[in-house]
Amino acid sequence: MDKFIIKGGKKLEGKVTVSGAKNSALVLMPAALLNTGINHISNTPEVNDIYTMIKLLKHLGVNSDFSEHNLILDTSNITNLIAPYDHVKKMRASVYVLGPLLARYGSAKVSLPGGCAWGPRPINLHLEAMKKLGAEIVLEEGYIIAKSSRLHGAKIHFDVSSVGATGNALMAAVLAKGTSVISNASIEPEIVLLTDFLTAMGAKIRGRGTTTLEVDGVDDLVPSSVKNISDRIEAGTLLTAAAITRSKIEIVYGEIDNIESELFKLESSGVKILRNNEIIEIDARDSSIKNVDVTTAVFPGFPTDMQAQWTAFMTLSDGTSTITDTIYHDRFSHVPELNRLGANIEILNNSAIVKGVKELKGAKVMSTDLRASASLVLAGLAAHGITEVLRIYHLDRGYQRIEEKLRSLGADIERVNTPEY
Ligand code: EPU
Repeated sequence: MDKFIIKGGKKLEGKVTVSGAKNSALVLMPAALLNTGINHISNTPEVNDIYTMIKLLKHLGVNSDFSEHNLILDTSNITNLIAPYDHVKKMRASVYVLGPLLARYGSAKVSLPGGCAWGPRPINLHLEAMKKLGAEIVLEEGYIIAKSSRLHGAKIHFDVSSVGATGNALMAAVLAKGTSVISNASIEPEIVLLTDFLTAMGAKIRGRGTTTLEVDGVDDLVPSSVKNISDRIEAGTLLTAAAITRSKIEIVYGEIDNIESELFKLESSGVKILRNNEIIEIDARDSSIKNVDVTTAVFPGFPTDMQAQWTAFMTLSDGTSTITDTIYHDRFSHVPELNRLGANIEILNNSAIVKGVKELKGAKVMSTDLRASASLVLAGLAAHGITEVLRIYHLDRGYQRIEEKLRSLGADIERVNTPEY
């Protein structure tokens, strides 16, 4: 098992390129199941969740080749329509194979994902959407068993905006017979890119990027290619690393509109942001950290996947800030660990009340999930002394060798193999 050893207090300087987005690649990959042949996804990040999805797709019969961030998925020989527990328990996004398998092959057996480190994450909306499209769904021995001769178009309204349920519903609707209307659909950039990939395969979708997607189902889709977008959460994490260490860095990041909510909050905290096409410069050298409240929301709101990192940043602000997570009410497992570093944070319902402290002090802390781990790394970079972040396998699920990026910016961070758990 690996851990990070961070000697805090180093200023960061220089330029790094943000990797491709994990969460968009995770929905583009199963979309390839909708056609028969060779699909290309470029700018795919080398992170463990991607390898987990490759293994799941291989189990279904998809041949893949992954090098230099180019992922080739050959869906010519699907032999299995079962996503077993051993794969799904590692990653909830495995449930994305449900819609494509059902739409293309009329049958899917997918393990129920179960709980998550920070509480319940239901998939009722995915299942309701499949039922509306005509699937018969039975839950048996921990599995979703879904069947349908041919899905038919339907009206699907989501009570809650869900990235995953929109993705699954869209992937199923593109091969259904007739027209579907998906309302209160997610407009997250990952779903917009999925729409583009499906359209390139021959799908007929109207309302790209809006909360109402209209889909005229087609009989067949053809293999296609797509360039993945950059990871907006990695971008936000790196910018916040500069902010918390009072540094100046540049990031190379393609889709600036996707992170305006993060940039806006950073500017409110007193740092300077310069937007220059694909380069974003952050300069946090001359200001103290103003306390800034944040409430997470669906896109284009402030993302829940940046909540933990923002909480870490606010621990060193010069006031009290309230950070509320409206997407995942219990996503605060980083808080006790940040407090071990000297932060002063209390949880009140779905909010963290962060009273800024003068300094953080290094200690051993434990990662509990992907974004919690990132918040501990940020705190460690700013803390006095040595911080050890244990269980960074969580971090490796979604950040491509972040320690190398941070080291290239001057951080003193080292990955060490350890028997500690
Ligand atoms: N929800 C339901 N029922 C459902 C599905 C969702 O009630 O059937 C609720 C959830 O409980 C939550 C809200 O809807 O309150 C939104 O969840 P959503 O379905 O949008 O989340 P997701 O698709 O499971 C993706 C990302 C998460 C990210 C969320 C929110 C992927 C693979 N995962 O999850 O990313 O937090 O959207 O933006 O795209 C991460 O990268 O660290 C991560 C957890």
